[in-house]
Amino acid sequence: MIDLLRQEVGTGKSLFINSGNLTKRTIKNDFEVKREVIKTALSSYEIIGTEIFAPGAQELIYGRQIMSSLKENAPKSTILCANLDGTPIPGIETHKVFTLNNKKILVTAIIDPNLEKKAIHGLQTKDPLSTLQEILKIPHDLAIAVLQFSDAKARRLIRSTAGLDIAILGTQRGTIKESELVNGCWLVKNNNHGKTVGYLDWDFTAGAPTSSKLIEISKEIYEADQQIDNLVGDYEVWLRQHYVEVEENKEKTASGLPTKTPYVGIQTCGTCHPRITTSWQSTRHARAYASLEKKCKDFCPDCLPCHVTGSQEHGKQGFRSPTTTPTLFNIQCEECHGSAEGHLKDPNLPYGLKIEASTCTLCHTSNTDPEFSFEEDLKLIAH
Ligand code: HEC
Ligand code: HEC
Ligand code: HEC
Ligand code: HEC
Repeated sequence: MIDLLRQEVGTGKSLFINSGNLTKRTIKNDFEVKREVIKTALSSYEIIGTEIFAPGAQELIYGRQIMSSLKENAPKSTILCANLDGTPIPGIETHKVFTLNNKKILVTAIIDPNLEKKAIHGLQTKDPLSTLQEILKIPHDLAIAVLQFSDAKARRLIRSTAGLDIAILGTQRGTIKESELVNGCWLVKNNNHGKTVGYLDWDFTAGAPTSSKLIEISKEIYEADQQIDNLVGDYEVWLRQHYVEVEENKEKTASGLPTKTPYVGIQTCGTCHPRITTSWQSTRHARAYASLEKKCKDFCPDCLPCHVTGSQEHGKQGFRSPTTTPTLFNIQCEECHGSAEGHLKDPNLPYGLKIEASTCTLCHTSNTDPEFSFEEDLKLIAH
């Protein structure tokens, strides 16, 4: 789709800027996964031909090691971060002047020094305002800055600076549909997990945008790029192997011993509840783990909690990992009824029938199942 946009705008008349934050917070401190995500994403941008990459908080908190790998993964891109202090990082530039259609476009990127507190590999930063003001002295027809700040802090910085034409907000999630004028500077934001491309058309005579919009990237409209699809496929294979190895390493240590859990597993229910067990087997709850296997995600910590029973990620005491709790795959009886440890000791005592909407919405969220209705969906799994 970027190719189509380029053609529409005309050769040599567009600049594509990516404002970073490529990895999700959910990939906790798995440095290797972060590195691989960043490598895959940047290699894709090279194929697309993104001109500028401005690393955000998610790249910066991993410090020098990730930052110095950026250029290696995207040799054709300009990587910008203006207010880093200390020993320069290879491949990171403070600004660049692009000449498009005989106009000088000055582009820079500034980060919030408070990110530094989280930087575990000790990056240092310089004052954002004076850095920006210094760069704006460089002759130009249009000045663009990617600001890796919160919305409020970015606005404060823009209000204290004269001469910036366009500010792109990184770091903070969300989008701005129409660009917004703040102290003579047009503010745009498009941090939408890559679901949209922000487009801004600049009129040099008026010194203002003629239009700005968000273009939705949809599989229905735009064909996927085969090369990028292959990169993502390679990443998926790598990721599964990585999580398998993490598991294997755990197994060698005390933390990998079979977990003692009060969840007894479905094997025991069938002897006394054969009809219900057969009925359950015909539901998709019984095949939830197979769904992950099909997607190569059977070891992925992002997916497991909702496709297994009693996940510790959900604050329960059942499933912990594929190797330590292999009897708790799928959405078994105990996910809804709770641990059956006590029930097996005395089956005639009341057990596990307090089932409410919240039992289900733990997994059937507005994200994973927007059409979920407790009353209607309950009928589909009734036994
Ligand atoms: C040794 C036989 C036995 C096993 C094993 C067993 N149950 Fe039961 N279960 C019973 C009996 C007996 C009752 C009470 C009568 C009835 O409703 O069938 C019962 C009732 C229940 C009830 C309703 C409780 C209530 O308050 O009315 C639930 C829920 C239940 N079982 C779930 C399970 C689950 C889940 C498992 C497997 C982890 C399981 N049972 C294993 C014998 C068993
Ligand atoms: C631990 C997570 C989890 C909980 C709790 C859970 N579900 Fe599910 N549910 C799933 C997953 C995952 C699937 C899809 C399985 C697949 O196809 O891989 C699913 C599928 C279903 C389906 C099948 C949908 C279809 O279109 O066929 C229904 C119906 C359903 N769940 C109802 C419920 C109800 C009602 C509750 C609460 C009483 C509930 N679920 C609780 C995770 C859960
Ligand atoms: C917050 C809970 C949750 C998480 C996390 C989750 N899922 Fe699911 N998943 C569900 C529910 C609920 C359904 C059933 C939705 C429905 O009724 O269609 C489902 C259904 C599915 C299905 C079968 C239906 C389909 O769309 O083809 C697949 C495959 C699947 N999930 C894969 C994944 C993968 C891969 C991940 C990790 C990237 C993941 N899930 C993470 C809750 C979750
Ligand atoms: C997705 C959630 C869910 C799963 C999984 C589930 N149940 Fe249930 N179960 C329910 C709900 C909801 C009820 C109805 C509760 C009520 O009566 O208020 C129920 C009722 C029951 C009852 C009492 C009603 C009766 O027919 O005697 C038993 C026994 C029972 N389930 C056993 C099981 C067993 C055994 C399994 C696994 C093979 C299982 N359930 C899996 C949600 C679930």
